[in-house]
Amino acid sequence: LPAVYLSRSARRGDAVGRLMRDPALREQPYGLYEELRARGPLTGSSLGLVTTSHPVAQEVLRSDRFGVGWDRATAPRLVRWALQFGDDPTAAGVAEPPSMLVVDPPDHTRFRRLVSRAFTPRATAAFEPAVRRTAERLLDDLERRDGVVDLVEAYAAQLPVLVIAELLGVPVARREDFLRWGAAAAATLDPGLPLGRFLAAERALRAMHRFLGEHFARLRREPGEDLVSRLVTLPPDEALDDRELHATVLLLLGAGFETTVNLLGNAVVLLDAHRDQWDALRGGDASWDDAVEEVLRLDSPVQLTGRTARADLELAGRRVGAGMRVTLLLGAANRDPDVFPDPARFDVTRANAREHLAFSGGIHYCLGAGLARLEGAVGLQALGERFPGLRVAGRPERRDLQTLRGFGVLPVAPR
Ligand code: HEM
Repeated sequence: LPAVYLSRSARRGDAVGRLMRDPALREQPYGLYEELRARGPLTGSSLGLVTTSHPVAQEVLRSDRFGVGWDRATAPRLVRWALQFGDDPTAAGVAEPPSMLVVDPPDHTRFRRLVSRAFTPRATAAFEPAVRRTAERLLDDLERRDGVVDLVEAYAAQLPVLVIAELLGVPVARREDFLRWGAAAAATLDPGLPLGRFLAAERALRAMHRFLGEHFARLRREPGEDLVSRLVTLPPDEALDDRELHATVLLLLGAGFETTVNLLGNAVVLLDAHRDQWDALRGGDASWDDAVEEVLRLDSPVQLTGRTARADLELAGRRVGAGMRVTLLLGAANRDPDVFPDPARFDVTRANAREHLAFSGGIHYCLGAGLARLEGAVGLQALGERFPGLRVAGRPERRDLQTLRGFGVLPVAPR
């Protein structure tokens, strides 16, 4: 199992193994990224090759000589197979059917095209009033609470899940279930997940797919105007099969809230530590959109992804054999000093923050980037305006995750 492999590497002191295992490094990985950067743009590790370089990561993401690789789609299924789980999304349970995130063209193109219409800049902009309304409603609730509040639980987690549930047309009343399932399932993004957490994720995914199966059946009988209704009633020549349908909706739902919660939490902690910039934003002397870009760059909600070489090739002056894995440390690429001067500095007026790779690049560039940006800017602005004196009031706790980076608990005093 990869977990066993990684824990061995961790004992040997391999940098990437340590990153996955050592809670202190999970809390603060940026020193280690700099150690890796000092070894050159592409370096070996227990995960195969690793890059901290912005241009190298970008080259890999944009190149059709790299694919998403065997491990994303196949490894989890192999492990499940070894554990005697079924592979049928509709019957006993799921195992992760392949979503657009884990497949190459032509399947990638087919899956993405079916849903991309719901995420065009126009469609996203039309959603702004709904995002604002949702944010204000949550802040009304927050206003009625006294003392120190966990901002993740009360706001940062709620806003994205309510928005994506509305957009997809899944019942918002089930949002606490989604949050619970999503949190367990998010761990499956981490390489070398310990078996116990893998099994918890498996259970959560099964529950989520059971819910989705029932929801699809309901919509087939009584379709609405929403995205999921459209997906379940596609004409036969376009229709997704059951596995594909489950995978697509699960991805949209999960990606829709598991990442944006981290953007909001990371932003509040950074702005609290840079009060002058928080004040400039509230006073209209800096832009919320720019602030979102700088948070995405400096403390990226998705810290890493990877690709696999589809042929023998050369990258950053090294030979890379077909089938070799390259891990892209997006969180490190976003602090590449050759692209971002004084990269560890938080500056909401930074001219080129938008060049970050927090939303990845190439054909898998985040489909929800526009929506995430909207939720980030609207969510932070609404919070800043309603609670000008909001302060972090206790120790924020990082989530126990490596690929996703954010806070699980964020105590604040709103007034
Ligand atoms: C893909 C980041 C919010 C939907 C991705 C990838 C990244 C990412 C890094 C690509 C991973 C790779 O290349 O391997 C983020 C961040 C977000 C965010 C940082 C919030 C701050 C959202 C939202 C949605 C969404 C709100 C809404 C549905 C997707 C989808 C993909 C994706 C569907 C797969 C695209 C593809 O494979 O073609 N996201 N995301 N994301 N994201 Fe996001």
